[in-house]
Formats: sequence, structure tokens, C-alpha cells
Amino acid sequence: MSGKSEVFLPLSRRSRKAQMTRPLSLGLWAITATVVIISCNYYFDSLSREPYTHSGRIQQLPINAEQILQKCASLRNIPGPEAHFHDREVSDRFEPGTKSTLIKNATIWTGLANGTEIIKGDILLKKGVVRGLGDVPQELFEDDEKNNDLVVIEASGAWVTPGLVDLHTHLGVASAPLLEGAMDVNSPHGPIVPWLRSIDGFNTHDDSFELAIAGGVTTAQVLPGSANAIGGQSFMVKLRRTAERSPSSMILEPPHSLNGTDTGPDGPLRWRHLKQACGENLKQYGTRMDSIWAFRSAYNEARKIKEAQDLYCLKAEAGLWNDIQGSEYPDSFKWEALVDVLRGRVRISNHCYEAVDLDDLVRLSNEFKFHIASFHHASEAYLVPGVLNRTFGGPPAVALFAKTHRYTRETYRGSEFAPRILTDHNISVIMKSDHPLVNSRYLLHEAQQAHYYGLQPHLALTAVTSTPAYAAGVAHRVGVLHEGVDADVVIWDSHPLNLGAIPRQVWIDGIPQLNATSKGLVGETREGKEVQETPLVPTWDEESAATVQYEGLPPLGPNKVISGKVVLKNVKEVWERGDSGVKERWSARPSQGFGTVVLADGEISCVGRDGWCFAAAENADTTIDIHGGMVGPGLMTVGSRLGTEEMGFETSTGPGISFNPYIKNVPKVLEDAGGLVRAADSLKFQTRDALVAHRAGVTYGTSTLGDSVYTLETTFRTGAVHALESGAIVKDITALHVHIVRPFGITGVSVGSQIAALRRLLLSAEDHNTETGHWFHKAAEGAIPLIISVESADIMATLLHLKADIEDQRGSRMHMVFNGATEAHLLAKELAKAKVGVIMLPRQFPLVWDRRRIVAGPPLTNNTAITTLLEHGVVVGISITEPSEAGGIRFDAAWAALESNGRLDKGKTYDLITTNLEKLYGITGWLKLDGALAIYDGGDIFSLSSKVVGVALPKKKTVELF
Ligand SMILES: *[C@@H]1O[C@H](CO)[C@@H](O)[C@H](O)[C@H]1NC(C)=O
Ligand SMILES: *[C@@H]1O[C@H](CO)[C@@H](O)[C@H](O)[C@H]1NC(C)=O
Ligand SMILES: *[C@@H]1O[C@H](CO)[C@@H](O)[C@H](O)[C@H]1NC(C)=O
Ligand SMILES: *[C@@H]1O[C@H](CO)[C@@H](O)[C@H](O)[C@H]1NC(C)=O
Repeated sequence: MSGKSEVFLPLSRRSRKAQMTRPLSLGLWAITATVVIISCNYYFDSLSREPYTHSGRIQQLPINAEQILQKCASLRNIPGPEAHFHDREVSDRFEPGTKSTLIKNATIWTGLANGTEIIKGDILLKKGVVRGLGDVPQELFEDDEKNNDLVVIEASGAWVTPGLVDLHTHLGVASAPLLEGAMDVNSPHGPIVPWLRSIDGFNTHDDSFELAIAGGVTTAQVLPGSANAIGGQSFMVKLRRTAERSPSSMILEPPHSLNGTDTGPDGPLRWRHLKQACGENLKQYGTRMDSIWAFRSAYNEARKIKEAQDLYCLKAEAGLWNDIQGSEYPDSFKWEALVDVLRGRVRISNHCYEAVDLDDLVRLSNEFKFHIASFHHASEAYLVPGVLNRTFGGPPAVALFAKTHRYTRETYRGSEFAPRILTDHNISVIMKSDHPLVNSRYLLHEAQQAHYYGLQPHLALTAVTSTPAYAAGVAHRVGVLHEGVDADVVIWDSHPLNLGAIPRQVWIDGIPQLNATSKGLVGETREGKEVQETPLVPTWDEESAATVQYEGLPPLGPNKVISGKVVLKNVKEVWERGDSGVKERWSARPSQGFGTVVLADGEISCVGRDGWCFAAAENADTTIDIHGGMVGPGLMTVGSRLGTEEMGFETSTGPGISFNPYIKNVPKVLEDAGGLVRAADSLKFQTRDALVAHRAGVTYGTSTLGDSVYTLETTFRTGAVHALESGAIVKDITALHVHIVRPFGITGVSVGSQIAALRRLLLSAEDHNTETGHWFHKAAEGAIPLIISVESADIMATLLHLKADIEDQRGSRMHMVFNGATEAHLLAKELAKAKVGVIMLPRQFPLVWDRRRIVAGPPLTNNTAITTLLEHGVVVGISITEPSEAGGIRFDAAWAALESNGRLDKGKTYDLITTNLEKLYGITGWLKLDGALAIYDGGDIFSLSSKVVGVALPKKKTVELF
């Protein structure tokens, strides 16, 4: 019952549920130059079909000799575009009837010169091809103009980039919403299945396509899952709907092998793609040793076939026909894909995390002489650049998540600084989604975060455009902009590395994808120099160096703890908790310059413009310059298992699995029908995710237990060392948390049974001397918040009804809150009336059926779920799913504000991750005096330029500096 993790993790690894229940080589050509000449002579002779002599012997020509020789010659073909590909005037993907588009006055980031080339000017999209760029000659479009076949878009200087390329997705094979009938990700038939093809399971009805396009993604690789060592062939697809509506028609460039129509000796060959995986996800087939043996056995089969083919062709081309008399060209339908790997015709995407796995695969690539195009996830790649350098054929690109780490042992040492460290070693970095693990729509956000943590801006952009395109062998078509490439273009509302940058239009094969106004664009360009230029970001050199020094596990505690007086200089803003939310206490007036804040014993003792706090600042223990930064209340995170586990999939680092009273009786020793557990009893302090959150100014967390049906949640301080430390536990029992989940798969109980149980418990059916009886009674009385995890509007409606019933019968007012609540916007009015608040993810995605009816937000809709709910007067807070997301909630809130088109001011935005959550969890007032303060250097809480440099802790009378 752990929400997202149960459903999303099987894509990349075995399901949590499953765990619980069972728990001759081309070199030969070089040494046989004479053979080639002989074979040419033979070629003309063969036309006469006469026996012919060679080496003094009569050679008997087979009837298909010509075919054999063609086949042999074709072995020398290497994939790639035909010569002069970029001279084309019509794309093979052109949809007749598509008008030409001239985008005028754009700032065009081309993806060339390692992402440093920017062209100011126009760009012409014609017949599915980029025809002109910069100064576009009039004669290229004057016919279209005459025939009314030209759409002109005024970009007014806006940023234009190539359509984004997502190198790692499960689009169409793990579709949204996830349904048992369309899970075509992993094969259960052994570790080695190179003969499988993701396109054979590709669902054209995935709701994700439209959403990903709305994020500027135009091309994606559709990978099989990672539960097999060689999981099958993958495909590069374009996400737009096609006239044919078929999977085949979405393939960017159908590879030469796809439909049996092998190309002739002249090519062109198209790249094939293959998914490989190593490490923990293969545990169902044995250990790491087993999987590497599985790889070696498979590649040895392929090698034998390839050598037999090469020998056969050597003889055929030498005219030694008698030697191969009666024998066919040695081929294997089953192993041909791996033989193609050994012939250098396949781009491999290799899921591989740890030093041991990377080393294994690099050894394998050298043993069998094949290249690996990209390592994916690769949590430890930044620690072993030398290993990557030894890969056969050169170092692979490395495809990473920005922040999704520490869910397994193999991801434990993952780092947000990895992209920068790798590029410093001249290794190409790609940012990817692993959709639906991260929604492909927010691929650009991965690049934005990588940039925030130090990746240089030009490389952050190439990481989602040209670098993945080069790695997949498709950069002659996508990922870059120059004449002759596919007309896949995005025009942005702000500089694409700014938070919340959204497309104003997306073209795929020259076809506009967003419903636009008459001007051809959606929404408005964001005003302001700061959003139209590369965002300023903090420096992380020290953190980054420590990460490498400590092999991914740098100490996360404070660098300095000061118990006396700390003076902050160059403060721009100070915010504080007020009666109705967070409010500004002080801000610098432009005429007077920045100000000073004095912290004494962890509390603000003076705030004012420079000079104002002169007396209070005397005898300071430390003075720090925060460069126009800010001081404000620490943030609160809810919704994940933060503080109860170290690595989600390592049972021994977590709380264990609670008894599920729906499935079997809770043991007698508990004497409790509901098996209610207190999260406080399972708290773990100093987990890396909690410490990372603390360092990011997220000073409080409310934790739930992922697997428990009924939990008493607890609120704790993320930076505390242990539970007995002063202020470590903010509130022991914060809320009663109940999950109402639709059964997925054949396990799980019905919604009706879950609600029947809830009704019964709220009517005090259980003995008040039991935990369940006691706390459900309190929830029914409204003495403790009842947080219900629920997604569907229908179930929420039922629960509102239930609430009214209980209140009627008992004469009480319950404090009910819906968590998750994707479809809550459909009931905004009713929720407001019932005073039921909502805790939700900042960005919605229809992962399962009950989350289908999302408000997609700009550029697809004007509203978002959050703005809709707030406008109706519903109290809304923002939650996360995975503990590693906790540190990023200020940017989540900033995103929500950007999507609101000005309807969420700074205070209301701040409330989403502080006071609104406190209201919903009934801890208003608890933090007022003792609340921690975060100190931001270089900007305010919602700005990418800022970094948390310290936390003030009144309860401990200290200031921690990082
Ligand atoms: C791109 O960067 C790589 C690595 O730094 C360098 O080797 C290459 O020459 C650069 N290419 C261009 C076109 O600047
Ligand atoms: C291009 O757009 C910018 C920004 O709106 C504007 O200042 C400039 O005058 C425009 N140039 C042309 C040639 O229209
Ligand atoms: C097979 O694929 C090739 C290459 O895309 C294409 O030209 C050909 O029409 C396809 N044949 C069939 C029968 O689909
Ligand atoms: C890997 O190779 C690149 C390019 O030759 C070089 O710049 C880099 O220093 C090497 N890294 C290691 C760790 O050997």
C-alpha cells in the first residue's frame, strides 16, 4: 500500500509485492586483400554460371552465388545516414497537407559546438525538414506564401531549441494509466532475451505522449525493463500521433532488421538499439556472478555465429565454393541481434549502477569487442571515470537522474554533483526520465536541476537534446538544429534552464502539437531579463569534491555549530510565521541597500537595514555575508517514508512490513484488530535523505509508513541526531493515516471493504482500550486529523458522505484531509464546504486509473489542480513520494507558483510547504516559538540562484552552518 513505489518500481526492478510474497572478425578482411580481388574476378565469371577453376581445382558455383556475395558484401555496411542526407527537401516522415512554418526573430540554440552555438534570426520548417536558419532566403518560402501554405510565427526573441530527446523511457510499454492489460516491460523468460522488441508491445494509447510533448519532448527511446540482462531491442520513436495510428509509423527510423526487408549492399543501414541491465534488478535469476555468466554465454554464442559467417564469406569471396558446397550462410534468427552488436550496428543502452557492475560490463565489452553507447542510472560512474574510459571503442555517455538516488544499495552513492564531475572528465552526460519513474514531461527539469548542482549550462541543454541523439545514432535527424534535420522544434516561454520553463509551441515533423491561438503560440512569454537569460546558480565545488573524496558518502552534518551570536550581512528579505500564514517581516528597500540580521541563541534578535542592528551585532561570534539572500521559516515535507528508512529496497534499513488487517488477523499479542502502528516507534534519525533535506532548509518532516494500512504519523526534525534530543520530535502523534487504495493486480481488498472497515472503526466499534479503538475514536471526534490517502474523485465523494454521516451520528466535526487526491479538483466546491483539506503532488500524472482525470496545467490548461482548489478556498499543501525528493520542495512550490500565472503570490506559495501543512496536520502553533529558520545565500527561497548555507535552531539555541 505504498502508493507510487508499488506500481512504479517494477519497471526498473522487481516489484515490492513480489519481494514480499517470495520475497571472425572484420580483421580477417584486412589480411585478405588478395581475396577481395579474386572475388571480384569471380563475380564477373559467375554471371556465366560455368564451373570455374581456382587454385587448380574445379569450383562448383551454387545457384545463389550472387545472393551470397551480396550478403557477404553487406556485412561491411555500418549504419548511418546516406551521403548528402541533409540535402533532402522532403522528410520521409512528412505528412501531406502540413503547412510550412516560418518562425521569425528567434534566439535559436542549435545544440551544435557542444551547445555553445546560438543564432539570432528565423527558422523555416518545410515538408518536415528544417530548411533555413538565421537568414532564410525568401525564395525558400515565397511559393508557400503565395499559396497560403505558410504560417508565420513572431517569436520576438524567444528561445528556440531542438525538440528534447529522452533516451530512457518506458513510454507505451508501461503506459499511463498503468493497467494489467498493458504492462509490456519485462519478460519473465530468463535473463537473456535479445530477440524481444519493445515495439511489439508498444501501446499507442498511452496518455503520456501528449503530456511529454507538452514538456517539449519530441523523441524518446522506448526501452524494455531492466529485469533481464539483455532485455530486448529498443526503438527510438517520435511522440506525435500519426495518420496511420500504428506503432510502426511512430518509429523515428525503422532499423534495417525490423520487417525482414534487409537493405542491399548499398545500405543505408539504420541503427538498431538494445537494452541491457546489470546489478540488483537481475536478482531473480541469481547473483551478479550469474548475470555476467549469462552475458558471456550469450555473447559467446553470437561470436561463434559471427566467426562462422566471416569464414563462410571469406571462402565465398575467395571463390572457394567447394569448401562451402551444400552449406548455407550460417545465421541464427535467435542470435542475429547480438551478432549485429558484434558487427557494431547496435547502440546499447546499459542500465548499470555500481563500480562493480560498470567494471563487469566494460570487461565484457573488451572481451567480445563491442561498444556500449550509454550507461544508464550509473550512480557510481562519477567515481570510476577510468573504468568508463576503458570501454571498447571509447567511453559511453552516461544517462543520469538529477536527484533520484538512494532507493537501493546500488543507488546509495548516487550524487546530484555527478553530471558536473563526469563532464569534467570529458564524459558525455545525458539527463533522462526513466518514464514513468520520472514523468518524461519533466525531462527538462532534470537538466535544470543538474545545472543547479553545477553542470555547465550548455552541457545541461545538450544533455536532453544533442548528447542523447548522438548516443542513439540519430543526431542526423533530431537533437540539433541545422539545415536538413527533422523539423522538431520547441519555442519556450523563458530560458529553458529556468524553473517552470514551458513550451509555447512544439513542432514534430513540422506539425504543431499544441492547440494555439491565432498567433500559433500558447500563453505568454515570461517577462524579465532574469527569466530570459541563463539562470544564476550557486557554486558547489566543496560539496562536489567531498562527494568524490568520501566515495559518494560525504558527511552531511553541519560544518560548524555556533551557540552564540551570528550576524548575517547583505540580507534582502526576512520572512516569518504569522497568524494566517508565512509573511514578510522585513525586506531591503532598493534605496537603502541590503540589511543585517542578528541571530542570538538561534533566534532573530534584530533585523534592519545596515547600521540599524549595530548594537545588537556587537561581539558577534561569526559574521557571514549572504549576498542578497534571505532568512525564513524552515520547510516541512510530508508524504514519503523520510526518516523511517535508509534505502527503500533494503529491508534491513527500514521499518519492516506492518500487519495488514484486511488480509490476515493481527497476531494476538497485539490485541488490536486494526494493527495500528505508530510511525514514531520506527523513526530513524540521520538517514541521508533526512540530512540532505535538512541541509536544503527542509527542517521538519511528517512520516508515514509505506506498507501500513493504518498508521499514526509523527512529525520530527530532519536534522536531529536521535529522538531524545531536544526538539527532535515535534509531535509524537500527529495524525491518523489511512489508505484507501484500488486493488492493483489480483491482490488487495475491495474499495467497499476498506470503506466498510473505516466506517465501522469511526463509529467506535472497537474497544477504546485498544490502539485502533482509541485513535479512531479520537479521529471521529475531530481530536486528531484523519489523513486519507485516496486518488479518485468517486472515492473522495464517498468519503465526504461518510464524514457527514459520522458527524451526524456523533455530533462531532472531523478533521479530514485527503492525501494524493489527484482528482480532488472535481470536488473543489464540496471539499471547501466540508472543510476537507488536500495534500497533493505539485505536478500531476495519470499513473493509475484513479489518477486519470488530472488538470495538466500550462501549456495544456490554464488552471492547475492547486489553483482550482485554492480558488475554492480549500487548504492545500504539497507532498512528495520518494524521500530523496524532500530537499527539492522549495522548487516544487516555485513551480506551482509559476504555473498559476501570478495567482499564487510568494506568501501563498511559501504556505504550501509550511503553514498549510501545519494546519492540515494540526500542528499550528507548535512551531511558532521553536521553529527553525533557514538561511539562504544568493537569493530567495524560490530562486535557483540561492543555496541554504545554515539553519537556526531556537530550541537548541544554535546556528548550524553548512
Ligand atoms: C566539444 O567538447 C569536447 C570535449 O570537451 C571536445 O573534445 C570537442 O572538441 C568539442 N567540440 C566542439 C565542436 O567544440
Ligand atoms: C526581435 O525581438 C526583440 C524582442 O522582442 C525586439 O526587441 C527586436 O526588435 C525584434 N527584431 C526584429 C528584427 O523584429
Ligand atoms: C519495411 O521497412 C522498410 C524500411 O523502413 C520500408 O521501406 C518498407 O516499406 C517496409 N516494408 C513493409 C512491408 O512494411
Ligand atoms: C578519460 O579520457 C579522457 C579523454 O582522453 C581524459 O580527459 C580523462 O582524463 C580520462 N579519465 C581518466 C580517469 O582516465
